[in-house]
Amino acid sequence: MSKIPLVDLKAQYETIKPEIDAAIQRAIDRTAFILGPEAKQFEEHFAEFCGVKHAIGLDSGTAALHLALIALGVGAGDEVITTTHTFVATAEPVSLQGARPVFVDIDPRTYNMDPAQLEAAITPRTRAIIPVHLYGQPAELDPILEIGRKHNIPVIEDAAQAHGATYRGKRAGSMGTMACFSFYPGKNLGAYGDAGALVTNDDELAGRIRMLRDHGRTSKYEHEITGYGYRLDGIQGAILDAKLKHLPEWNKQRRAHADYYTELLTNLDDSIVLPYEPAHIKGVYHLFVIRTRGRDELLKCLKTQEIEAGIHYPVPLHLQPVYRDLGYARGAFPEAERAAGEILSLPLYPELTHGQMERVVETMRDFYRNN
Ligand SMILES: Cc1ncc(COP(=O)(O)O)c(C=O)c1O
Repeated sequence: MSKIPLVDLKAQYETIKPEIDAAIQRAIDRTAFILGPEAKQFEEHFAEFCGVKHAIGLDSGTAALHLALIALGVGAGDEVITTTHTFVATAEPVSLQGARPVFVDIDPRTYNMDPAQLEAAITPRTRAIIPVHLYGQPAELDPILEIGRKHNIPVIEDAAQAHGATYRGKRAGSMGTMACFSFYPGKNLGAYGDAGALVTNDDELAGRIRMLRDHGRTSKYEHEITGYGYRLDGIQGAILDAKLKHLPEWNKQRRAHADYYTELLTNLDDSIVLPYEPAHIKGVYHLFVIRTRGRDELLKCLKTQEIEAGIHYPVPLHLQPVYRDLGYARGAFPEAERAAGEILSLPLYPELTHGQMERVVETMRDFYRNN
Protein backbone atom coordinates (compact mmCIF):
# COMPACT_ATOMS: atom_id res chain seq x y z
CA MET A 1 0.00 0.00 0.00
CA SER A 2 1.62 3.26 -1.05
CA LYS A 3 1.14 6.40 0.91
CA ILE A 4 -1.08 9.19 -0.44
CA PRO A 5 0.28 12.43 0.99
CA LEU A 6 -1.67 15.66 1.43
CA VAL A 7 0.83 17.37 -0.89
CA ASP A 8 3.60 15.70 -2.92
CA LEU A 9 6.42 18.14 -3.56
CA LYS A 10 8.76 15.38 -4.72
CA ALA A 11 6.35 14.32 -7.48
CA GLN A 12 6.20 17.93 -8.68
CA TYR A 13 9.98 18.33 -8.66
CA GLU A 14 10.34 15.18 -10.80
CA THR A 15 8.21 16.76 -13.53
CA ILE A 16 10.33 19.95 -13.79
CA LYS A 17 13.73 18.81 -12.50
CA PRO A 18 15.90 20.08 -15.42
CA GLU A 19 14.32 23.56 -15.31
CA ILE A 20 14.66 23.86 -11.54
CA ASP A 21 18.22 22.56 -11.47
CA ALA A 22 19.19 25.00 -14.23
CA ALA A 23 17.48 27.91 -12.42
CA ILE A 24 19.33 27.17 -9.17
CA GLN A 25 22.62 26.84 -11.04
CA ARG A 26 22.02 30.16 -12.81
CA ALA A 27 21.48 31.94 -9.50
CA ILE A 28 24.63 30.35 -8.06
CA ASP A 29 26.70 31.22 -11.13
CA ARG A 30 25.63 34.83 -10.73
CA THR A 31 26.28 34.66 -6.96
CA ALA A 32 23.24 36.88 -6.58
CA PHE A 33 21.96 35.30 -3.39
CA ILE A 34 19.84 38.15 -1.99
CA LEU A 35 17.39 39.77 -4.46
CA GLY A 36 19.44 40.26 -7.69
CA PRO A 37 18.41 39.73 -11.33
CA GLU A 38 16.63 36.39 -10.84
CA ALA A 39 14.44 37.79 -8.08
CA LYS A 40 13.78 40.96 -10.10
CA GLN A 41 12.70 38.98 -13.12
CA PHE A 42 10.32 36.94 -10.98
CA GLU A 43 8.87 40.12 -9.47
CA GLU A 44 8.15 41.48 -12.96
CA HIS A 45 6.55 38.24 -14.12
CA PHE A 46 4.52 37.82 -10.95
CA ALA A 47 3.20 41.42 -11.14
CA GLU A 48 2.13 40.73 -14.71
CA PHE A 49 0.52 37.43 -13.66
CA CYS A 50 -1.52 39.18 -10.94
CA GLY A 51 -2.41 42.12 -13.19
CA VAL A 52 -0.77 44.73 -10.93
CA LYS A 53 2.01 47.32 -11.31
CA HIS A 54 4.34 46.17 -8.54
CA ALA A 55 5.37 42.88 -6.96
CA ILE A 56 7.93 43.09 -4.18
CA GLY A 57 9.77 39.88 -3.37
CA LEU A 58 10.02 39.08 0.33
CA ASP A 59 11.19 36.25 2.53
CA SER A 60 7.68 35.11 3.56
CA GLY A 61 3.98 35.81 3.36
CA THR A 62 4.09 36.83 7.01
CA ALA A 63 6.67 39.50 6.16
CA ALA A 64 4.34 40.74 3.38
CA LEU A 65 1.48 41.16 5.85
CA HIS A 66 3.78 42.81 8.37
CA LEU A 67 5.14 45.34 5.85
CA ALA A 68 1.65 46.09 4.53
CA LEU A 69 0.60 47.14 8.04
CA ILE A 70 3.79 49.11 8.67
CA ALA A 71 3.44 50.93 5.35
CA LEU A 72 -0.08 51.96 6.39
CA GLY A 73 1.23 53.19 9.73
CA VAL A 74 -0.70 50.66 11.84
CA GLY A 75 0.48 50.82 15.44
CA ALA A 76 -0.45 50.75 19.11
CA GLY A 77 -4.12 51.44 19.82
CA ASP A 78 -5.21 50.63 16.26
CA GLU A 79 -7.53 47.82 15.21
CA VAL A 80 -7.35 45.57 12.16
CA ILE A 81 -10.32 43.43 11.17
CA THR A 82 -9.85 39.92 9.82
CA THR A 83 -11.50 36.51 9.92
CA THR A 84 -11.09 34.14 12.85
CA HIS A 85 -10.93 31.11 10.50
CA THR A 86 -7.42 31.41 9.06
CA PHE A 87 -3.78 30.61 9.68
CA VAL A 88 -2.33 32.51 12.64
CA ALA A 89 0.04 34.47 10.37
CA THR A 90 -2.88 36.58 9.13
CA ALA A 91 -3.31 38.13 12.58
CA GLU A 92 0.21 37.85 14.02
CA PRO A 93 1.64 40.93 12.27
CA VAL A 94 -1.26 42.99 13.67
CA SER A 95 -0.18 42.00 17.18
CA LEU A 96 3.49 42.58 16.31
CA GLN A 97 2.58 46.19 15.56
CA GLY A 98 0.96 46.54 18.97
CA ALA A 99 -2.45 46.79 17.31
CA ARG A 100 -5.50 44.67 18.10
CA PRO A 101 -6.82 41.97 15.77
CA VAL A 102 -10.62 42.22 15.60
CA PHE A 103 -12.20 39.04 14.34
CA VAL A 104 -15.40 38.44 12.40
CA ASP A 105 -17.19 35.20 11.61
CA ILE A 106 -17.24 33.33 8.30
CA ASP A 107 -19.86 32.58 5.69
CA PRO A 108 -20.40 28.87 6.41
CA ARG A 109 -20.59 27.99 2.70
CA THR A 110 -17.31 29.54 1.58
CA TYR A 111 -15.41 29.62 4.91
CA ASN A 112 -14.38 33.19 4.05
CA MET A 113 -15.10 36.45 5.91
CA ASP A 114 -18.83 37.16 6.11
CA PRO A 115 -19.17 40.69 4.68
CA ALA A 116 -22.52 41.07 6.45
CA GLN A 117 -20.66 41.08 9.79
CA LEU A 118 -17.85 43.36 8.76
CA GLU A 119 -19.44 46.77 9.15
CA ALA A 120 -20.51 46.16 12.75
CA ALA A 121 -16.87 45.46 13.66
CA ILE A 122 -15.63 48.85 12.39
CA THR A 123 -14.73 51.47 15.02
CA PRO A 124 -12.94 54.84 14.81
CA ARG A 125 -9.72 52.89 15.51
CA THR A 126 -10.01 50.51 12.52
CA ARG A 127 -6.97 51.00 10.25
CA ALA A 128 -7.21 48.04 7.85
CA ILE A 129 -9.38 45.11 6.79
CA ILE A 130 -7.72 41.80 5.86
CA PRO A 131 -10.00 39.39 4.01
CA VAL A 132 -8.37 35.97 3.45
CA HIS A 133 -8.85 34.00 0.23
CA LEU A 134 -8.94 30.74 2.13
CA TYR A 135 -8.35 27.36 0.43
CA GLY A 136 -7.64 29.24 -2.83
CA GLN A 137 -11.09 30.81 -3.15
CA PRO A 138 -11.32 34.62 -3.15
CA ALA A 139 -13.39 36.18 -0.38
CA GLU A 140 -16.59 38.06 -1.35
CA LEU A 141 -14.64 41.21 -2.21
CA ASP A 142 -17.22 43.61 -3.69
CA PRO A 143 -19.06 44.31 -0.42
CA ILE A 144 -15.80 44.23 1.55
CA LEU A 145 -14.15 46.79 -0.76
CA GLU A 146 -17.33 48.89 -0.69
CA ILE A 147 -17.32 49.00 3.12
CA GLY A 148 -13.60 49.87 3.02
CA ARG A 149 -14.26 52.75 0.59
CA LYS A 150 -17.21 54.02 2.61
CA HIS A 151 -15.16 54.23 5.81
CA ASN A 152 -11.88 55.11 4.08
CA ILE A 153 -10.17 51.97 5.39
CA PRO A 154 -7.65 50.15 3.16
CA VAL A 155 -8.24 46.48 2.32
CA ILE A 156 -5.23 44.13 2.36
CA GLU A 157 -5.92 40.85 0.58
CA ASP A 158 -4.35 37.83 2.26
CA ALA A 159 -3.86 35.90 -0.97
CA ALA A 160 -1.34 33.47 0.55
CA GLN A 161 -3.39 30.49 -0.68
CA ALA A 162 -4.87 31.94 -3.87
CA HIS A 163 -2.25 32.45 -6.62
CA GLY A 164 -4.18 32.75 -9.86
CA ALA A 165 -7.72 32.62 -8.44
CA THR A 166 -10.21 35.12 -9.86
CA TYR A 167 -13.10 37.24 -8.56
CA ARG A 168 -15.39 38.52 -11.33
CA GLY A 169 -12.55 37.80 -13.76
CA LYS A 170 -9.93 39.76 -11.79
CA ARG A 171 -6.92 38.02 -10.31
CA ALA A 172 -6.63 37.61 -6.55
CA GLY A 173 -4.24 40.27 -5.34
CA SER A 174 -5.27 42.94 -7.85
CA MET A 175 -8.28 44.38 -6.02
CA GLY A 176 -7.17 45.52 -2.58
CA THR A 177 -4.86 48.44 -1.73
CA MET A 178 -2.21 45.74 -1.30
CA ALA A 179 -2.13 41.96 -1.33
CA CYS A 180 0.14 39.43 0.33
CA PHE A 181 1.27 36.12 -1.14
CA SER A 182 3.12 33.25 0.50
CA PHE A 183 5.38 30.94 -1.48
CA TYR A 184 5.71 28.46 1.37
CA PRO A 185 6.71 25.18 -0.34
CA GLY A 186 3.25 23.56 -0.24
CA LYS A 187 1.42 26.55 -1.73
CA ASN A 188 0.09 26.49 -5.32
CA LEU A 189 3.21 28.44 -6.23
CA GLY A 190 5.80 27.28 -3.72
CA ALA A 191 9.49 28.08 -3.29
CA TYR A 192 12.12 25.64 -2.01
CA GLY A 193 12.23 27.41 1.33
CA ASP A 194 10.46 30.46 2.77
CA ALA A 195 9.42 33.21 0.35
CA GLY A 196 6.59 35.68 -0.21
CA ALA A 197 5.55 38.80 -2.09
CA LEU A 198 3.52 41.93 -1.64
CA VAL A 199 1.69 43.26 -4.70
CA THR A 200 0.11 46.68 -5.24
CA ASN A 201 -0.82 49.25 -7.86
CA ASP A 202 0.19 52.10 -5.54
CA ASP A 203 3.59 53.56 -6.52
CA GLU A 204 4.16 55.27 -3.21
CA LEU A 205 3.38 52.22 -1.09
CA ALA A 206 5.55 50.08 -3.38
CA GLY A 207 8.51 52.43 -2.93
CA ARG A 208 8.07 52.44 0.82
CA ILE A 209 7.84 48.67 1.01
CA ARG A 210 10.95 48.21 -1.14
CA MET A 211 12.77 50.41 1.38
CA LEU A 212 11.26 48.67 4.41
CA ARG A 213 12.23 45.18 3.21
CA ASP A 214 15.88 46.20 2.94
CA HIS A 215 16.81 48.06 6.15
CA GLY A 216 15.18 51.31 5.09
CA ARG A 217 17.82 51.78 2.37
CA THR A 218 17.73 54.44 -0.30
CA SER A 219 21.23 53.45 -1.46
CA LYS A 220 23.90 51.03 -0.27
CA TYR A 221 25.01 53.11 2.70
CA GLU A 222 22.03 55.40 3.22
CA HIS A 223 19.14 54.40 5.47
CA GLU A 224 16.11 56.67 5.37
CA ILE A 225 13.79 54.79 7.74
CA THR A 226 13.92 51.89 10.19
CA GLY A 227 13.47 48.77 8.12
CA TYR A 228 13.79 44.99 8.17
CA GLY A 229 15.76 42.18 6.54
CA TYR A 230 12.73 40.76 4.71
CA ARG A 231 14.25 40.26 1.24
CA LEU A 232 13.62 37.47 -1.25
CA ASP A 233 16.59 35.13 -1.87
CA GLY A 234 18.01 35.01 -5.40
CA ILE A 235 17.77 31.21 -5.57
CA GLN A 236 14.12 31.31 -4.48
CA GLY A 237 13.44 34.00 -7.10
CA ALA A 238 14.98 31.80 -9.80
CA ILE A 239 12.95 28.75 -8.69
CA LEU A 240 9.72 30.75 -8.46
CA ASP A 241 10.23 32.26 -11.91
CA ALA A 242 10.73 28.78 -13.38
CA LYS A 243 7.65 27.44 -11.57
CA LEU A 244 5.40 30.41 -12.42
CA LYS A 245 5.26 29.27 -16.07
CA HIS A 246 3.58 26.05 -14.90
CA LEU A 247 1.15 27.61 -12.45
CA PRO A 248 -1.81 28.05 -14.84
CA GLU A 249 -1.60 24.38 -15.86
CA TRP A 250 -1.20 23.22 -12.24
CA ASN A 251 -4.21 25.29 -11.18
CA LYS A 252 -6.21 23.77 -14.04
CA GLN A 253 -5.25 20.29 -12.84
CA ARG A 254 -6.27 21.15 -9.28
CA ARG A 255 -9.68 22.31 -10.51
CA ALA A 256 -10.09 19.15 -12.57
CA HIS A 257 -9.22 17.03 -9.52
CA ALA A 258 -11.75 18.98 -7.44
CA ASP A 259 -14.39 18.16 -10.09
CA TYR A 260 -13.46 14.48 -9.96
CA TYR A 261 -13.61 14.36 -6.15
CA THR A 262 -17.00 16.09 -6.35
CA GLU A 263 -18.23 13.46 -8.79
CA LEU A 264 -16.96 10.60 -6.60
CA LEU A 265 -18.22 12.06 -3.32
CA THR A 266 -21.69 13.06 -4.46
CA ASN A 267 -24.19 10.78 -2.70
CA LEU A 268 -21.46 8.95 -0.75
CA ASP A 269 -22.91 10.01 2.61
CA ASP A 270 -25.67 12.43 3.56
CA SER A 271 -23.40 14.27 5.98
CA ILE A 272 -20.84 15.34 3.37
CA VAL A 273 -20.85 19.00 2.40
CA LEU A 274 -18.78 19.62 -0.72
CA PRO A 275 -16.91 22.87 -1.52
CA TYR A 276 -19.21 25.64 -2.71
CA GLU A 277 -18.07 27.99 -5.46
CA PRO A 278 -20.24 31.01 -6.33
CA ALA A 279 -20.57 31.59 -10.12
CA HIS A 280 -18.52 34.82 -10.07
CA ILE A 281 -15.59 33.23 -8.21
CA LYS A 282 -13.02 30.83 -9.62
CA GLY A 283 -10.87 29.28 -6.92
CA VAL A 284 -7.60 27.43 -7.38
CA TYR A 285 -8.18 24.67 -4.83
CA HIS A 286 -5.12 25.15 -2.68
CA LEU A 287 -7.07 22.72 -0.49
CA PHE A 288 -10.11 20.55 -1.13
CA VAL A 289 -12.16 20.91 2.05
CA ILE A 290 -15.33 19.02 2.89
CA ARG A 291 -17.50 18.83 5.98
CA THR A 292 -18.43 15.46 7.36
CA ARG A 293 -19.81 13.64 10.37
CA GLY A 294 -17.30 11.70 12.46
CA ARG A 295 -14.48 13.89 11.16
CA ASP A 296 -11.88 12.87 13.74
CA GLU A 297 -12.63 9.14 13.36
CA LEU A 298 -12.54 9.46 9.58
CA LEU A 299 -9.19 11.22 9.77
CA LYS A 300 -7.84 8.33 11.87
CA CYS A 301 -9.30 5.75 9.51
CA LEU A 302 -7.65 7.44 6.49
CA LYS A 303 -4.36 7.48 8.38
CA THR A 304 -4.47 3.72 8.96
CA GLN A 305 -4.77 3.36 5.19
CA GLU A 306 -1.72 5.62 4.68
CA ILE A 307 -3.86 8.49 3.42
CA GLU A 308 -2.83 11.87 4.76
CA ALA A 309 -5.71 14.30 5.29
CA GLY A 310 -5.63 17.56 7.24
CA ILE A 311 -7.64 20.12 9.18
CA HIS A 312 -7.30 23.75 8.15
CA TYR A 313 -7.75 24.89 10.85
CA PRO A 314 -8.86 23.01 13.98
CA VAL A 315 -8.90 26.01 16.35
CA PRO A 316 -10.24 29.44 15.28
CA LEU A 317 -7.94 32.30 16.15
CA HIS A 318 -10.24 33.83 18.77
CA LEU A 319 -9.90 30.60 20.80
CA GLN A 320 -6.12 30.28 20.45
CA PRO A 321 -4.15 30.65 23.70
CA VAL A 322 -2.12 33.49 22.18
CA TYR A 323 -5.31 35.54 21.77
CA ARG A 324 -6.76 34.75 25.20
CA ASP A 325 -6.18 38.36 26.25
CA LEU A 326 -8.48 39.68 23.53
CA GLY A 327 -11.37 38.41 25.64
CA TYR A 328 -13.37 36.44 23.07
CA ALA A 329 -15.49 33.67 24.59
CA ARG A 330 -16.38 30.29 23.08
CA GLY A 331 -19.53 30.87 21.06
CA ALA A 332 -18.41 34.33 19.86
CA PHE A 333 -18.17 33.12 16.25
CA PRO A 334 -20.44 30.09 15.94
CA GLU A 335 -19.94 29.41 12.22
CA ALA A 336 -16.16 29.32 12.49
CA GLU A 337 -16.36 27.16 15.61
CA ARG A 338 -18.75 24.72 13.94
CA ALA A 339 -16.60 24.54 10.80
CA ALA A 340 -13.46 23.85 12.87
CA GLY A 341 -15.10 20.70 14.22
CA GLU A 342 -16.35 19.38 10.87
CA ILE A 343 -13.87 20.26 8.12
CA LEU A 344 -11.45 17.87 6.50
CA SER A 345 -8.87 18.61 3.77
CA LEU A 346 -8.41 15.69 1.38
CA PRO A 347 -5.14 15.11 -0.51
CA LEU A 348 -4.96 17.47 -3.47
CA TYR A 349 -2.05 18.44 -5.70
CA PRO A 350 -1.63 18.65 -9.46
CA GLU A 351 0.19 15.30 -9.78
CA LEU A 352 -2.53 13.37 -7.87
CA THR A 353 -3.96 10.56 -10.01
CA HIS A 354 -7.55 9.40 -10.52
CA GLY A 355 -6.49 6.08 -8.98
CA GLN A 356 -5.34 7.83 -5.82
CA MET A 357 -8.55 9.86 -5.54
CA GLU A 358 -10.58 6.68 -6.04
CA ARG A 359 -8.66 5.01 -3.21
CA VAL A 360 -9.34 7.97 -0.91
CA VAL A 361 -13.06 7.81 -1.67
CA GLU A 362 -13.26 4.00 -1.39
CA THR A 363 -11.64 4.23 2.06
CA MET A 364 -14.24 6.83 3.00
CA ARG A 365 -17.05 4.61 1.66
CA ASP A 366 -15.88 1.76 3.92
CA PHE A 367 -15.73 4.14 6.87
CA TYR A 368 -19.30 5.40 6.41
CA ARG A 369 -20.56 1.84 5.92
CA ASN A 370 -19.06 0.78 9.26
CA ASN A 371 -19.83 3.91 11.28
C1 LIG B 1 -3.74 32.40 4.94
C2 LIG B 1 -2.27 32.53 5.19
N1 LIG B 1 -1.77 33.73 5.57
C3 LIG B 1 -0.47 33.90 5.78
C4 LIG B 1 0.43 32.87 5.62
C5 LIG B 1 1.87 33.11 5.96
O1 LIG B 1 2.75 32.84 4.92
P1 LIG B 1 4.24 32.36 5.23
O2 LIG B 1 4.19 30.98 5.78
O3 LIG B 1 4.90 32.42 3.87
O4 LIG B 1 4.85 33.33 6.16
C6 LIG B 1 -0.03 31.60 5.20
C7 LIG B 1 0.84 30.46 4.93
O5 LIG B 1 1.58 29.91 5.64
C8 LIG B 1 -1.42 31.43 5.00
O6 LIG B 1 -1.90 30.24 4.64
